Amino acid sequence: MKILAIVDSPRVDGNTNYLVDQALYEAAKLNAKTDKIMISQYNVNPCLGHKDCSDYESCLRQDDGIWILQRFGEADGIILATPVYYYDISSWLKIFIDRNYFFYRHGRKCCAKAAGLIVLAGGAGIEDTLHTLDKYLNTSPFNVPDDSRFVVTGYASGPGDVRNNSKLIEKARQLGRNMVKSLKQQ
Ligand SMILES: Cc1cc2nc3c(=O)[nH]c(=O)nc-3n(C[C@H](O)[C@H](O)[C@H](O)COP(=O)(O)O)c2cc1C
Repeated sequence: MKILAIVDSPRVDGNTNYLVDQALYEAAKLNAKTDKIMISQYNVNPCLGHKDCSDYESCLRQDDGIWILQRFGEADGIILATPVYYYDISSWLKIFIDRNYFFYRHGRKCCAKAAGLIVLAGGAGIEDTLHTLDKYLNTSPFNVPDDSRFVVTGYASGPGDVRNNSKLIEKARQLGRNMVKSLKQQ
């Protein structure tokens, strides 16, 4: 069982990344094979919207987006983790999501049967951000049942502030356990 987390905060010592590590640690304890990609550390460029996208065997953007999308598509469980940036996901994740268009145009599906969403905000915008992520999970590469989607949201500001929030940490750990449990039951 493979669980892959995509983290789009550029802060390695940030709140989102910390909570993702908590979730993955718990999942690994239950024998899931875990993997994490901090998308800001790779060269992933925006979709160019080629109208003949489906004619190409490989995305014309020959960058890290290709293998990241491939690995993403193969995972049994995916975690999407984002800080709120101006009431929505950050631009790193938006760029990655747009690159899913290649999968869509080629009729390819993601294997994921469970999803975790982790959203951190300083004070406002969580609902809008969750709405964006939920809509994305409802698009064609996915087939994640509603009862296999797990959500953790919370508030934090400075890098690492979340380390003092034991309730939120426990929720992230529970998300990791819930994902494994859900995958084992399917
Ligand atoms: C460019 C930028 C935009 C932000 N926009 C919002 C926002 O709209 N609403 C909010 O509550 N916090 C906003 N924040 C604060 C972050 O969501 C918050 O600090 C979060 O904990 C950062 O998570 P991280 O440490 O994982 O990067 C913004 C921060 C940055 C850098």
